[in-house]
Amino acid sequence: MAIKCKADYLKNFISDADIKALIPSLENAHKQLTEKSGAGNDFLGWYDLPFEYDKEEFERIKKAAEKIKNDSDIFIAIGIGGSYLGARAAIEFIKSPYYNNLKKDTPDIYFAGNTISSSAVSEILKICEGKDVSINVISKSGTTTEPGVVFRLFREMLEKKYGKEGAAKRIYITTDKSRGNLKKFADANGCETFVIPDDVGGRYSVLTACGLLPIAVAGIDIDAIMRGAQTAANALKKCDIASNDAYKYAVLRNALLAKGKVMEIMACYEPAFQYMNEWWKQLFGESEGKDGKGIFPVSVIYSTDLHSLGQIIQEGQRNIFETVVDIKKSNDTVIIPNDSENIDGMNFLSGKELSFVNEKAYLGTVFAHLDGGVPNIILELDSRSEEDYGYMVYFFELACAISGYILGINPFNQPGVEAYKKNMFALLGKPGEENEKRKAELENLMKSF
Ligand code: PA5
Repeated sequence: MAIKCKADYLKNFISDADIKALIPSLENAHKQLTEKSGAGNDFLGWYDLPFEYDKEEFERIKKAAEKIKNDSDIFIAIGIGGSYLGARAAIEFIKSPYYNNLKKDTPDIYFAGNTISSSAVSEILKICEGKDVSINVISKSGTTTEPGVVFRLFREMLEKKYGKEGAAKRIYITTDKSRGNLKKFADANGCETFVIPDDVGGRYSVLTACGLLPIAVAGIDIDAIMRGAQTAANALKKCDIASNDAYKYAVLRNALLAKGKVMEIMACYEPAFQYMNEWWKQLFGESEGKDGKGIFPVSVIYSTDLHSLGQIIQEGQRNIFETVVDIKKSNDTVIIPNDSENIDGMNFLSGKELSFVNEKAYLGTVFAHLDGGVPNIILELDSRSEEDYGYMVYFFELACAISGYILGINPFNQPGVEAYKKNMFALLGKPGEENEKRKAELENLMKSF
């Protein structure tokens, strides 16, 4: 099993009775998911995706990745939210957070379209100067502002470099199968397109072309990722917390919520997990945070953040719990050298593996935080392999859907994300009656402050 969910350290915080009390809600959630009778049931494509994906497109993804590897120094993935986080998480988790600086025969990869900061965009444009570049625009709706405007800039750059036709051969579009502006653009210009299926929402889409093309460009074995997801889908079928660790995790976090623990801190001792944290935060935050409900997801990388957030976690408000991802196998072995002068007094560590020290930091922290009144759920993960990444993605998607149904919300929509967009469009002067009305409302609101 690739992920084991351990509740050993929760005894002082929740009882067996607290867990038992949630079993009827779990059974109901399982029923809603498997019988497709719950809210958002038209977005359950991710559930069988590890088996029922488009095999022809999958082969095309691998072919496109080979072409990009051969004709590009730089690959830019343009997308925001669910349209980039999973791919970035995979590349950093499986390869390295320093992927671009590694010795490799694959292109450097940059993620753009996830910000509208002029500096951030122009920095990447400058990095592209004198280099061969391909881009992948990823937007399910094809209407999202951030990737939309950033695509214009990269398209202009490509057209100057390669001409309109040459540029089109370097623009890969991942979007809805038939609707939207991007699809229209792709058809008009003959760009290669990939599909985000209708029934797979953005934050559940990393195992579609949305995530798989950038991941494959990084030289990662996407067949192995799918195998990991298949193992998870087979292992996590039963509605039974003794054997289904994703369901167990969903129940434990809801039991802690019922005790007033309204914030979950995802913690890991591997910096390569940082973007997994970001992906997980979007998955759970956007899925659960609605109708005045939800557990606020935050994240840390230890031991780094013990020197920034450690104090507040140890002694601040007791409304938090931690979920610690304990990765069992380190990718490398590093031995601490001896220092004949022992200037730093650390010779007691000479000859030890760095991962041994990291492990003791982990254990020391778990018990310090437990002493301080912070419950810890432990998720044991075997390694940073492709298979384990695929397993972990499916594990969290499933846990999120079940947890959301236990909470009594629709885990597959995101109505709240529209509020800032409406204001932004009104302030930008986007044509339309609605926008003009909102602009007038905002002007009045601003005067009242
Ligand atoms: O989970 C979601 O649906 C969102 O986070 C989207 O992924 C994000 O808003 C980007 O949307 P789009 O792919 O339509 O540009």
